[in-house]
Amino acid sequence: MKREKDKVLDPQEVMERIATAGKPVVAGIEEKDVKHWATIYIMGRGYRVPADLTILTAIEYAGYKFIRGCGCREGFCGACSTVYRLEGDYKLHTGMACQTRVEDGMYLVQIPFTPAVKAAYDINREEYKVNVFFKYYPELARCISCNTCTKSCPQGLQVMDYIQAAIKGDFKKVADESFDCIQCGLCALRCPAEIVQYNVAQLGRRMYGKYGGREPEHLIERIREIDAGAFNQEMDEITSLDRAELEKRYAERRREAD
Ligand code: SF4
Ligand code: SF4
Ligand code: FES
Repeated sequence: MKREKDKVLDPQEVMERIATAGKPVVAGIEEKDVKHWATIYIMGRGYRVPADLTILTAIEYAGYKFIRGCGCREGFCGACSTVYRLEGDYKLHTGMACQTRVEDGMYLVQIPFTPAVKAAYDINREEYKVNVFFKYYPELARCISCNTCTKSCPQGLQVMDYIQAAIKGDFKKVADESFDCIQCGLCALRCPAEIVQYNVAQLGRRMYGKYGGREPEHLIERIREIDAGAFNQEMDEITSLDRAELEKRYAERRREAD
């Protein structure tokens, strides 16, 4: 069977896909075509929804429109954090609404934003030492190793481990372990020590990127070219095009082989 990515797509089809990405996908579901239903509770109110929808599409099916709390719909942007309980289960579950399927008896609430302090710093002025973590996030010292953050992470990251690595000043481990963090905020929401794990991780990745890794030669070379004006003419031309010509060029662009 030919895989989707092996298909040669018509440029028009590509443009249509881009234009419709991010739009609700529940329009057109006919009740008569739905085989299984689930009852879910959105902020306390019950709704009957098709059982194979994600939480995100089920909420839309129930008639809500997302203004915040929804972005990529693909599990990457971290905007659709959800907290829920299941009937007869005492546990508070967490997940991304666009990646989690509804279950019968789900009590849901969306968390479009987690209130969390984000320190302002200039990594060029910081020392590559453990102190930098405690300087900006002293609450790290309160971690009680309860592992709640790891259990809350929809990305399956070892959050407690990268926090422990930060406490020890292991920048590489913080960067490696937190690499797939989508900043959804669910770990911070549940931390009894009020640590904002993802901001700690971001500081760690930035410091490691600046001081711990190798110099990115190709990037440095490209920045030098940009500064020297090597792409100015091309950029001026592109920014002067109208939408139709831009779309045409996008569809016809050269692409790297898979
Ligand atoms: S939830 Fe907070 S206190 Fe518990 S392990 Fe994670 S960072 Fe430490
Ligand atoms: S580490 Fe925290 S913010 Fe990052 S994806 Fe996991 S739960 Fe979300
Ligand atoms: S909408 Fe982006 S992760 Fe769910």
